[in-house]
Amino acid sequence: MNQQLQPNTTNIMPTLRARLIGGNWKMHKNVAGTTSFFESFLPLVGSPKHCETVICPPFLDIANAVKSTRGTNVRIGAQNLYWANDGAFTGEVSGPMIKASGCSWVIVGHSERRRYFGDTDETVLKKTIAALEAGLTPIVCIGERQEKNVETVLTEQFRDGIAGLSDKQFAAIVIGYEPIWAIGAGETATPEVAAEAHRWIRTQARERFGTQAANNVRILYGGSVKPDNACNLLAQSEIDGFLVGGASLDPVSFAALVRLLSASQVLAE
Ligand code: PGA
Repeated sequence: MNQQLQPNTTNIMPTLRARLIGGNWKMHKNVAGTTSFFESFLPLVGSPKHCETVICPPFLDIANAVKSTRGTNVRIGAQNLYWANDGAFTGEVSGPMIKASGCSWVIVGHSERRRYFGDTDETVLKKTIAALEAGLTPIVCIGERQEKNVETVLTEQFRDGIAGLSDKQFAAIVIGYEPIWAIGAGETATPEVAAEAHRWIRTQARERFGTQAANNVRILYGGSVKPDNACNLLAQSEIDGFLVGGASLDPVSFAALVRLLSASQVLAE
């Protein structure tokens, strides 16, 4: 194995929830870049068995990503959707269209959608329900803008968005905790701060959906995750995986993260 990819698992906490990693390519790469990413990435990870691995490329790269990963365990997701199934909504893409393109996942309510494109807790809820109805698994993102009032912001976002789901719908989502101040900033929340926020989200989930549902829901951490800070984050049992931006663009970095998460899952089994 490539030395660079040897996971150092010494301090990783085993978890009963299945590990998951999402790569959010944002508005990066074209069709050719998608092909070359998978040509490098797939041989590095094989077909990952111990960590669910999802790549979310731009819409126009989805067909090529689906083709490139056929026959592997890597799944493809979209970065956004609109809640109507079809109609006069210029520029939008619906859940059934995303599903038909070969995706099984979709990111909903990413902070950049909230910040630049007007997503609100209310529309995030509509999009989450539309994703589930289309048979997609949504990664529903919440997170505070500044490193303060964390609990208040998370409570409001949970109450006005996720809490509107039925029990059955809640059981089918994944939550992404993304402190906005840490995204693309090269600055991660400390593992303790991230774990504290995850615990708070799980408390909200427990109050609304009950203990079992809260224990089962997977919460991903997102915000400048890289191979060199991932181990410390995974030492927190609250962190079930990552939603990765910048480091998912590089096949070697992303493969290193997949291997780390896989190794930590193996420890738990
Ligand atoms: P980053 O992005 O890893 O580049 O900080 C995370 C995200 O926005 O999902």
